[in-house]
Amino acid sequence: MDTPVNAAEPDKTVKANTVKPKTVKIVEVGPRDGLQNEKALIDTSTKRQFIEKLADAGLKFIEVTSFVSPKAVPQLADALELVRSLPPREGVHYSALVPNLKGLERALESGIREIAVFTAASNSFTQNNINMTIEESLAAFSPVVDRARREGLFVRGYISTAFYCPFEGKIEKEPVLAVCQRLLEMGVQELSIGDTIGQAVPDDVRATMAHLLQFLPVSQVAMHFHDTNGLAIENVMASLDLGISIFDSSAGGLGGCPYAPGASGNLSTDALVHFLHGQGIQTGVDEIKLAEASGLIRQVIQQTDGLVEDIGNLEYLGQVTYPPASTL
Ligand code: HMG
Ligand code: MG
Repeated sequence: MDTPVNAAEPDKTVKANTVKPKTVKIVEVGPRDGLQNEKALIDTSTKRQFIEKLADAGLKFIEVTSFVSPKAVPQLADALELVRSLPPREGVHYSALVPNLKGLERALESGIREIAVFTAASNSFTQNNINMTIEESLAAFSPVVDRARREGLFVRGYISTAFYCPFEGKIEKEPVLAVCQRLLEMGVQELSIGDTIGQAVPDDVRATMAHLLQFLPVSQVAMHFHDTNGLAIENVMASLDLGISIFDSSAGGLGGCPYAPGASGNLSTDALVHFLHGQGIQTGVDEIKLAEASGLIRQVIQQTDGLVEDIGNLEYLGQVTYPPASTL
């Protein structure tokens, strides 16, 4: 066969010395990232039932809520009550987002043992999401991480808009790396790199992550994909090839961020687990029981809301009037 004209050169920036993982850690974010975007309020006992079904399915890391301002995310205003209602289960780690010291106080009061701080690689997004610049967010997190670590909590750090920002477009890899390094220096133990609005394609993932992994320990790196364009699984494949073995996903593919126009559903845990099992990679999750958990929450949302909120790309691709970054 003739060699095609202009055949693409292999990407020499990607290190080929990585081995695909045999097991994967899944961080289930459905009860937090999945529900935060749902407008109709879901009662605490239904959330608890959903979380228990996720744990029954074998999910060991479940982000259950956020200790953020209830004005910012009314759906998660019951965080304290919800966490207190969860029976401890051996081997199951519950976690929650915390944006500031006030959130940490509430988290400690609830008894939760794992928290996540959250910033981004774009200033416009952090301004929109948490009303701070990146620098201000890092300054705010420093005492939070410090105190949390002294209390013996596990601390994760999210870096949103690591590939594309709804306000600034394509994000370069250097600012992503800089934020990751600052978080690690602060004492954050796991980094979750977010394609918040689901615009990344596998080449974006390879380019950014191959660069980051020259400086960051792969064992501390998780990927957080949203599935706006149906490419989340392809992006997982690209990440696995780089040796990454921690993935965030949301049961039933629920999700989005109320402060990120264009953020649609997260990578579905159901699809992720099915895909990984098909590749011979272990997750410890029972697909049938997981389908029961996803079915429960989708049914509840459809009954309360009539609609599962997963529209995204239309907003990103032109229907949003982007506020100029300077006014954010
Ligand atoms: P602010 O208005 O600048 O802060 O909000 P403030 O300190 O002036 O507080 C305003 C009010 O909120 C005050 O109450 C505070 O007491 C209260 P008031 O005096 O008006 O009655 N407050 C709190 N209440 C409870 N718990 C708290 C808390 N903090 C303040 N922790 C703030 C700044 C950061 C608080 C706010 O913007 C906020 O909570 N934002 C959260 C936004 C959010 O949750 N976004 C979604 C999560 S990020 C995401 O989805 C992306 C991710 O999935 C990864 C990816 O996809 O890339 C993680
Ligand atoms: Mg998210």
